[in-house]
Amino acid sequence: MNELLKVEDLVVRYGGMTAVDGMSMSIRAGEVLALVGESGCGKSSTARAVVGMERPAEGTVLFRGTAVPPLGLRRRRTEFTAIQMVFQDPNSSLNPRKRVGEQIADGVRAAQARGLNSARPDSWLEAVGLQPEMTTRYPHQFSGGQRQRIAIARALAAKPDLIVADEPISALDASSQASVAAMMRRLCLEAGAGMLFISHDLSVVRLMADRVMVMYRGSVVESGPTPLVWSEPVHPYTEALLGAIPHPDGRGVLPAAPAAEAPEEWASTLPEALSRQVETR
Ligand SMILES: Nc1ncnc2c1ncn2[C@@H]1O[C@H](COP(=O)(O)OP(=O)(O)OP(=O)(O)O)[C@@H](O)[C@H]1O
Ligand SMILES: [Mg+2]
Repeated sequence: MNELLKVEDLVVRYGGMTAVDGMSMSIRAGEVLALVGESGCGKSSTARAVVGMERPAEGTVLFRGTAVPPLGLRRRRTEFTAIQMVFQDPNSSLNPRKRVGEQIADGVRAAQARGLNSARPDSWLEAVGLQPEMTTRYPHQFSGGQRQRIAIARALAAKPDLIVADEPISALDASSQASVAAMMRRLCLEAGAGMLFISHDLSVVRLMADRVMVMYRGSVVESGPTPLVWSEPVHPYTEALLGAIPHPDGRGVLPAAPAAEAPEEWASTLPEALSRQVETR
């Protein structure tokens, strides 16, 4: 089976603070898995551990059966290109002093170094909805939304097996969020890649993810096929998340952290046998 990523019992700690408390997940090729949950629940820490930017305190992160090497961002760009990251802030993915065409060409070279064909930089710009002749421009000559499209083009040009996207659309203006998300899904699946997609925009998650995992205070409290989690949320926190969506189209924001006593209360309400995976703390 074409399992790309397997995370088992991952624990991430910062000093004495446990940010990720034993989470497990797997992603197959051609699948978009969304990670949702309130601010501070450990989504970015999980993402960083997946790409090797954070060393797990416990547990394993296997990519195609091999442990992901801990590497800095720069070395990762050239030495471990099968996983590509897209960050919330495109400025952290792009070099301000380099023409965007050259930056996308870096991605193309990363693909070629792994024996893969990639399109020309101008075609990649077109693929993300920009003009092909913009390759000679610098990042500051684009809007924030356009810069994020370029960062996505750069990541895709490397022909990754897995894309880890941490809030990739949060910094975009509202009008382009859904279209950029849809574009990411389409290009990712066309390339046969898998994607870990982190977002607090549940309406976008609903549209773009095959499966969703709900994190709460470092643990996964619910996971399943997206339509099923939406129609029959099992965990009270998931219900609270979905219930907080103010509009029928699902657009909304996550609620603030519930009271401290909530987790135990919720854990005790978990049903014993479920038709899909539900993990307790
Ligand atoms: N480098 C760090 N050093 C110390 N603590 C950290 C560090 N990064 C994250 N944390 C803490 O770990 C916890 C989880 O943070 P993380 O960034 O993973 O959450 P998140 O789910 O991505 O939140 P958000 O939705 O706000 O991005 C938080 O309490 C955060 O303050
Ligand atoms: Mg985060």
